[in-house]
Amino acid sequence: MTEELDHGQTPATQGSRIDAYVDRYAARATGMVASEIRALFAVASRPEVVSLAGGMPYVTALPLDMVGELVSDLVTRRGPVALQYGSGQGDPHLREQICDVMRLEGIQAGGDDVVVTVGSQQALDLITRIFIDPGDVVLAEGPSYVGALGTFAAYQAKVVHIAMDDQGILPESLAQTIYALETAGAPIKFLYTIPTFHNPGGVTLNLARRQQVLDICQRAGVLIIEDNPYGLLGFDGEPMRALRADNPDGVVYLGSFSKTLAPGFRVGWALAPHAIRDKLVLAMESAVLSHSSFTQLAVGQYLATQPWREQIKTFRELYRERRDALLDALEALMPPEVTWTRPAGGFFVWATLPEGLDSKAILPRAVAERVAFVPGTGFFSDGSGARHMRLSYCYPEPDRIREGVRRLAGVIEQEMQLRDTFGTSSVRDHQGVDTPGPDLA
Ligand SMILES: Cc1ncc(COP(=O)(O)O)c(C=O)c1O
Repeated sequence: MTEELDHGQTPATQGSRIDAYVDRYAARATGMVASEIRALFAVASRPEVVSLAGGMPYVTALPLDMVGELVSDLVTRRGPVALQYGSGQGDPHLREQICDVMRLEGIQAGGDDVVVTVGSQQALDLITRIFIDPGDVVLAEGPSYVGALGTFAAYQAKVVHIAMDDQGILPESLAQTIYALETAGAPIKFLYTIPTFHNPGGVTLNLARRQQVLDICQRAGVLIIEDNPYGLLGFDGEPMRALRADNPDGVVYLGSFSKTLAPGFRVGWALAPHAIRDKLVLAMESAVLSHSSFTQLAVGQYLATQPWREQIKTFRELYRERRDALLDALEALMPPEVTWTRPAGGFFVWATLPEGLDSKAILPRAVAERVAFVPGTGFFSDGSGARHMRLSYCYPEPDRIREGVRRLAGVIEQEMQLRDTFGTSSVRDHQGVDTPGPDLA
């Protein structure tokens, strides 16, 4: 048998797709499957395809020479520290600097309450790890961030979605859902929310609702996980006040340097009440011992020596121009039955297709026409959302964005004609969470 298989390769390199250990996995791993749309996105990353799918920050806008010098200087001057293990909670100086960054959103905190994590994605993982047993309830906006839904699924949480409109989560729906779940004897572990420049919704929770959400959760004793990687990337005026600014005991705040500096450093953080912070540090140590001292010190050095506020302004202007390009092109080219949100910051527009169209079914045709987006089904834990799609404007240049919308509008018009001719809805029954992978998160 080995001889039959052996065409000059050793068995270890043959890459068999048969999994000999299929019945040995933990129950939580059975839901971890690559979605079928991953294969399509491999095609979508070809240069001829305009990708309105990826959520990748435009790191080319950074002064890369300066970053190179900074990194080299770090190794030369502080190598023995930068290349050594660090503490589970993270570099103390960086934690103080993180507090300076959060002050821009009205948060008063000390570095002692911060845990530095491998991106805010790891903070999400650690929070879920310390709070969730299989079957526990997590509340999240519908739609919600695909990476968070993947984490909740991995820990076998039951996600209950709360509806949003163009002003963010609906406080009445939140209150009703909490009441219904508590009455049914299903305790809620936390509310996971992205109040500012939502991924994928592109909307921001307004000021009045912020207070309502805080009040509702405080009354019900529901912890809030505020995920805020885009908060400093607003296009108009000052940053929004974070939820955490008005309730230090009831909110765990997650932040990240991925969008304001670069995701390659993988530096994010959690700001948590003391008791939760202690558990996070222990969970962090059991996961990775300590974060990379090297990237933490590099980020610290960047904050200490470079005009980081100016750099954020550069990013904001760049993304504003791209947001405008996307919104103008949608206005000019999309059939009138298609609607979309108008983000005031962040990376994403959430579009709604006419009745009877299914974004996941349309995707292969769109990719054939050289344009890609993320179907709405990835952003709901129950696979609903088929009439929606996420369009991101962070990565392609404005001209490419316009060309992408032109192609997409053509595909949607054809789909509408097919629907009108055959009179049937192509909406399929979707199940589970599609996790398209890190570059598309
Ligand atoms: C809402 C949200 N949360 C968390 C993350 C994770 O970011 P990182 O781990 O790079 O900090 C992302 C990335 O796209 C995001 O959009």
